[in-house]
Amino acid sequence: MASGTESWILMATGRTPTNIAVIKYWGKRDEALILPVNDSISVTLDPDHLSATTTVAVSPTFDRDRMWLNGKEIPLSGDRFQSCLREIRKLADDVEDEKKGIRIQKDDWQKLHVHIASYNNFPTAAGLASSAAGLACFVFTLAKLMNVKEDCGKLSSIARQGSGSACRSMYGGFVKWTMGKDASGSDSIAVQLASESHWNDLVIIIAVVSSKQKETSSTTGMRDSVETSPLLQHRAQTVVPGRILQMEEAIRNRDFASFARLTCADSNQFHAAAYTFDAGPNSVLIAPNRKSAGLLLQRLLFCFPPPAHNELTSYVIGDKSILHEAGLQSMKDVEALPPPPESKDKYPSQKFPGVVSYFICTRLGSGPRVLTDESLALLSPTTGLPKLLY
Ligand code: ADE
Repeated sequence: MASGTESWILMATGRTPTNIAVIKYWGKRDEALILPVNDSISVTLDPDHLSATTTVAVSPTFDRDRMWLNGKEIPLSGDRFQSCLREIRKLADDVEDEKKGIRIQKDDWQKLHVHIASYNNFPTAAGLASSAAGLACFVFTLAKLMNVKEDCGKLSSIARQGSGSACRSMYGGFVKWTMGKDASGSDSIAVQLASESHWNDLVIIIAVVSSKQKETSSTTGMRDSVETSPLLQHRAQTVVPGRILQMEEAIRNRDFASFARLTCADSNQFHAAAYTFDAGPNSVLIAPNRKSAGLLLQRLLFCFPPPAHNELTSYVIGDKSILHEAGLQSMKDVEALPPPPESKDKYPSQKFPGVVSYFICTRLGSGPRVLTDESLALLSPTTGLPKLLY
């Protein structure tokens, strides 16, 4: 199998962003292969604020595949992890690390076991697409370790089998998941519409109202919608195809008015169906530039101030320069905010302290990347076990 001693460990670490759909994926036409009922479009968020980091290690001393998520061991036996592992192992190639005296031939990967540690820098399973970032990172990092030569399109179709929207996290910027026609799912892949630099003045503010795990998983919610909602079929077949074309044009032309109208219309269609938010309770607001984001944040902090004891800098996280843009440096500044000028005497603005847990200010971000700095690896290079356990 490999030359040199039999106690070597080889590792790779990757970081992959999350994404938020502006034309939503909701409903599968094939549950096993995770094939959607319509195309969808998303923006990739800045990995500095919302991403999964994953280290994968391989060693002949490992006796089984194991995984830790946020420091706790989790089973890898689920169909979704297994599909991704199987597909990546099929594409694995020879690996040689001369310095460490390691040679792995492509057939060896079928017998070698892996240890995987992953960490999300934002709440897991709370409607912020942690599984999208997580499964994309799982596939991306395994592919790097196993020297898979295929492009991001192919990797996106594997990530899709782990979590549908994970395919869109394979690229930065603006991404379309084309639903495809083939029964095998080979053409149900993500494509990049434009990179993050195409329209880099957009600011995204996420109001996190709950970091608890959502009660209904997206899988169950989608299945219920497909089985019970005539509106969903109408949406997929009649509404979304036109909206996709208009959204592509809005992105191409950096036309914020059209981009915002289409984004809101698409989200609202789910409220028309059952008065629920998409997949979790947290709302994502998009401002066309930093100045508007500052004004938006002033209004948000007026209506949803932090509980009295909270520090402003732990209430607004991510890109803190938006606080500066809003002219807010301390809780005193928040307390002194005037009511939004557009609020009318008849409908005075109300304050709801403590309703929002915190705000994340972010922006468009780049796609997956390999982290070469060994200090960022989540597994120890000597034991192959997590450096941190919770
Ligand atoms: N589900 C949620 N977050 C994840 C992660 N980082 N890796 C794998 N699965 C996940």
